[in-house]
Amino acid sequence: MTSPPTRGGVTPRETFSRRSVFVFAAIGSAVGLGNIWRFPFVAYDNGGGAFLLPYLVALLTAGLPLLFFDYAIGHRFRGSAPLSFRRMNRFAEPIGWIQVLVSFVIAVYYAVIIAWAACYAWFSVDERWGETYEESASFFAEDFLRAGSGFGVDFVPGIAIVLVVVWIVTLGVLLAGVQKGIGRTALLFVPLLVALFAALVVRSLFLEGALEGLNNFFTPDWGVLTDPGVWIAAYGQIFLSLSVGFGIMLTYSSYLKRKSNLTSSGLVVGFSNSAFEVLAGIGVFATLGFLVTTSAGAGWDDVGGGPGLAFIAFPALISQMPGGPIWGVVFFVCLILAGITSLISITEVVISSFQDKIGSSRTVATLTVGIPMAAISLLLMPTETGLQNLDIMDKFVNSLGIVGISLIALIVVIFGLRLAPTLRDHLNSVSSWKVGTFWIVCLAVITPLVLGYSLIREIMALLSEPYEGYEASVLGVWGWGMVGTILVLSIILSVLPWRGARHLDGPPPVDDDPSDFTYEEGLTRPDENPTPTHTPKEA
Ligand code: ALA
Repeated sequence: MTSPPTRGGVTPRETFSRRSVFVFAAIGSAVGLGNIWRFPFVAYDNGGGAFLLPYLVALLTAGLPLLFFDYAIGHRFRGSAPLSFRRMNRFAEPIGWIQVLVSFVIAVYYAVIIAWAACYAWFSVDERWGETYEESASFFAEDFLRAGSGFGVDFVPGIAIVLVVVWIVTLGVLLAGVQKGIGRTALLFVPLLVALFAALVVRSLFLEGALEGLNNFFTPDWGVLTDPGVWIAAYGQIFLSLSVGFGIMLTYSSYLKRKSNLTSSGLVVGFSNSAFEVLAGIGVFATLGFLVTTSAGAGWDDVGGGPGLAFIAFPALISQMPGGPIWGVVFFVCLILAGITSLISITEVVISSFQDKIGSSRTVATLTVGIPMAAISLLLMPTETGLQNLDIMDKFVNSLGIVGISLIALIVVIFGLRLAPTLRDHLNSVSSWKVGTFWIVCLAVITPLVLGYSLIREIMALLSEPYEGYEASVLGVWGWGMVGTILVLSIILSVLPWRGARHLDGPPPVDDDPSDFTYEEGLTRPDENPTPTHTPKEA
């Protein structure tokens, strides 16, 4: 691998070769485990068909506006999350580091779910989990995970070996770079995922009981629309699902050429992600309809979202359906494909930040940060307490981490630094679909209100009783302790000097990287920069 030439000791920023490659990479990031196993049950638990209304409102008033917000920041300030926030204002840098550390934590546990999926793709061949729902549940918890609680560190070697492979693949893709690694992987994996998943959904529609399943999913319970919890659930789903608020879309858009149509890319990404989510809902419920109408021993109340859905309910129904082993392999390969493109994007948030901060090549940054990250994942996840650690980290990092940092970022950028008009003008100067006052109202009023309300609700719920009944000491370490560590580290990292970036105050000048001289196909090179980029300070 040859390193790109440096300018004044600073490595020029890599770019995606075309906007379509960026769009594929962004869809690959958005469509992840959250779409396949989380959305169907969030919808089911929150009013079924009626949930689609709050979901659509959340997409239009928070999902897409925040996606454009992330794009505008990354593209205008042309850096990883901490560098972009540093370029806005010196005191905003910790926001970027909190996003990086949130991504770090998510990557640590996200990887092991992909490893489980890989193991289950193999188990599908002989349906190793048994015949019934009960057998499948006990296989997952006792034989496969050997699940326990507390601070046990007994390794489960089978999972650990596969997890090593997951990390080798992820870091290998990232070592290859933005275009050759992230871009090419997305161009291959995203169409493959869509084709396999579509085949799975079509197959599910022909199963006995599919109609009952779809009725269960789509029958609207309009009464739920007056429940604030349902609206919070819809907004919560959009954040994780669209990969907004924790640095991913910001980082990816910093790899776009200067003149790139940002908002129309965002619309394609946002609506593709939601279409995949609804498709997953149809597929999952049609199949579960089959499960509860067969003799597998599960009722609608038994099957929950998360691990229970993918690793207990699905295996049980695979054992019941004709051609089960083949469809089992297809389902778990879909989970692997959806998961790995998301894991790549989450890990890239961390790698690109350290590359910018320490001024190293991509190879050095990937190895010096990626290997410790993989080591922590290997230490905590393929152990008898891995499921417990994962559950706690997932709860705290999503409910407090992503929600909290998104709220802070909006308050600081919109009200503190008053950058909303600058970001709006930036988006409009490069995009064909313009944003205006409604976009700013969504970011300044609607989203902060929803985020603030859900943050307070979550903190009160977590303080009033132990989450899922876990021991206080365990919650103290993997929940509250993890959140506290993120806050402290974000300050420490912010005071360290920048070695990999010039122009720390305001957007970098136009000649700072090669992408400044290349323009998206079909767009003529403008006489001027899309936006004035020589302003020394934004705020
Ligand atoms: N957007 C990714 C998911 O849905 C992270 O899981």
